[in-house]
Amino acid sequence: MVEYIKLSETSALVLRFLQDQVYHSQAVKDYLARLDLSAGKEMQDACDAIWPHYSEVIINRKHTILKYIEEALAENPSLQIISGAAGLDPLGLELTQRHKGLTVYEIDREQMPLKAALISAPELCFIPGDLGDTAPLIDRLTKAGWLQDKPTFLIMEGIGYYLTPVILKNFFTAMSPQYVVFDHLRETGMTQEANEIITRILGVIENYIEMDKMIRYDASSLSALLDMRIAKHASLHAIEYQRTGQNVYFPSEDFGWLDITVFEPEH
Ligand SMILES: C[S@@+](CC[C@H](N)C(=O)[O-])C[C@H]1O[C@@H](n2cnc3c(N)ncnc32)[C@H](O)[C@@H]1O
Repeated sequence: MVEYIKLSETSALVLRFLQDQVYHSQAVKDYLARLDLSAGKEMQDACDAIWPHYSEVIINRKHTILKYIEEALAENPSLQIISGAAGLDPLGLELTQRHKGLTVYEIDREQMPLKAALISAPELCFIPGDLGDTAPLIDRLTKAGWLQDKPTFLIMEGIGYYLTPVILKNFFTAMSPQYVVFDHLRETGMTQEANEIITRILGVIENYIEMDKMIRYDASSLSALLDMRIAKHASLHAIEYQRTGQNVYFPSEDFGWLDITVFEPEH
């Protein structure tokens, strides 16, 4: 009998929006088949009632983050990969399937034991811990084989909106990655309609996770905070065109509320 795992609402929501887009390895398909995503249905219905195309945001985001990681690995195949808040996302599993010998370290304060029970891939290391408490995290990463003085690509997907500037700054000082990719919510530069859509969607999520206000960072404010330069940057408008060859849901640069940015050290 197949055992299905019930997910918390937000993890289930992202995976419901993603469906079988972006990641195509058999191992990911097998893993996703064991997850029961029903916990995210109510929230998905609430988001769809606000703007019925929200899945396009998630697909664009995941497509571009994977593309940026692939580009970095093409330049430097010996990069170490850390996902800063992997949750139940299959990205790390997909990467280990695409790149034999690549080790991916996934951190999350929840769900790591559950994921370890579901996935058997020796190159994928599940590190439980809080990004706000760096010393034990570095200790666990090092014990798992991570080399602090060797180049690291850090994935910060679906997490920037939950972390205060102080936590982010401390985490980055401890990790000093060679590359980092973020998806982040715009502070400015949106049409009124775009701002209204995302404000209402965030309201639904904030209500579910009982968070006061999710945090928005422009690329320039993240660059200043982390003391890293912007190496690559894409809006939803640009991603949609790059991915599909046309603009349907994001007709202009300012119709979009989430950007994907890669940062590299200044020096
Ligand atoms: C929306 S999920 C994103 C999962 C995945 N990265 C993705 O994009 O699909 C956010 C994840 O951040 C984790 N998280 C939030 N705050 C954290 C913290 N301070 N330390 C570690 N994990 C954290 C949650 O447990 C959750 O799994």
